[in-house]
Amino acid sequence: MSKLAFSDGEFKRISALMYEAVGLSYNESKKTLIHSRLAPRIQKLGLGSFADYIAILENEAEVNEFQTAVDLLTTNETYFFREPRHYELLQQELPSCADRSGVKVWSAASSFGDEAYSTAMLLSDMQVAGRIGPNWSILGTDISHRVLLSAKEAVFPEDRLRAVDPDRLRRYCLRGEGAAQGQVLMQDKIRNRVQFGQLNLCKPFDGIGPFDVVFLRNVLIYFDAPTKVEVVDRVLATLKPGGLFFLGTAEGRVPCMTPLQPLIPGAFRKKA
Ligand SMILES: C[S@@+](CC[C@H](N)C(=O)[O-])C[C@H]1O[C@@H](n2cnc3c(N)ncnc32)[C@H](O)[C@@H]1O
Repeated sequence: MSKLAFSDGEFKRISALMYEAVGLSYNESKKTLIHSRLAPRIQKLGLGSFADYIAILENEAEVNEFQTAVDLLTTNETYFFREPRHYELLQQELPSCADRSGVKVWSAASSFGDEAYSTAMLLSDMQVAGRIGPNWSILGTDISHRVLLSAKEAVFPEDRLRAVDPDRLRRYCLRGEGAAQGQVLMQDKIRNRVQFGQLNLCKPFDGIGPFDVVFLRNVLIYFDAPTKVEVVDRVLATLKPGGLFFLGTAEGRVPCMTPLQPLIPGAFRKKA
C-alpha cells in the first residue's frame, strides 16, 4: 500500500467531485479503496500529494485526467451470462413483447461488454430458431472510457466465459492461440450486432431507444437512494410499454415512479 497521506477533507472532496460528475456515492468505509486506486496514479504522474491531484481534477481543462480517475474508481466486475435466470426469462418472454420492426436491447452499464455479447448470442440463437426476426441490435453504454475500448475490441479472458454453453462458444467465439492463448474473441456475426458508446446515467440524455429490453444491472449499488430513483425512471423512459427490465438481484426492487410488474427476482415488465 502506498504511503501517500490522504486526509478526511481530501477524501470528502474527491467523493463530492465523483458524486457530482457521475453519481458515485462513497461513505467513510470506502476511503481505503479510493486511496488504493488513486495513489499509484498520483505517483505515476510525479505528484507529491492528493491535494495536487485534486487541483487537477478541479481544473475543467483536465477532462482526460478526470476520465482516468473515473476509470480507476468505477468497479467493473462482470461476466458472461451473469444471473442465468434473467437470460432464461428473456428467451421465454421476448417473442411476446417484440414487434415486427425488430428487437432493440440496451445494456445500460455494460462494463467490458459481457452482458451485451451474452445477449447477442442468445438473440442470434432465437433468430436461427425463428423465434425473433432478423432485425435486432444491442447498445452497450458505460461511463468508463477504458471498459468501452475493451468492449469494442471484443477480446475476453476465457474465465469470464465460464458460464457459456460449449456449443455456443464454438459457434460464436474464436479461441486464441500462441500469444493469445487463454483469450477469446467474439466472431463478427456477434460483434456486428453490438455497438458501444459512452453515456452517463446520472445526467439527462436523449436520442436512444425506444428499447424492448433494458439491462441496468449491478450499477445502482454505487448510487445513493435519490440518485437510484432518478436513474431508474430516466432509463425506464426509454423502455417500450410491455418491455423487459433487468436489475441486479442484489439490488432488490428500486422505488420508482414508472409502474412495473415484477416477474422474477431482478426482472420486471414495464406496465402499459
Ligand atoms: C459492476 S459493473 C456492471 C456490469 C454489468 N451490468 C453486469 O451486471 O455484469 C458497473 C458498471 O457501471 C458503470 N457506471 C458507474 N457509474 C456510471 C454512470 N454514472 N453512468 C454509466 N455507467 C456507470 C461502471 O463503469 C461499471 O462498468
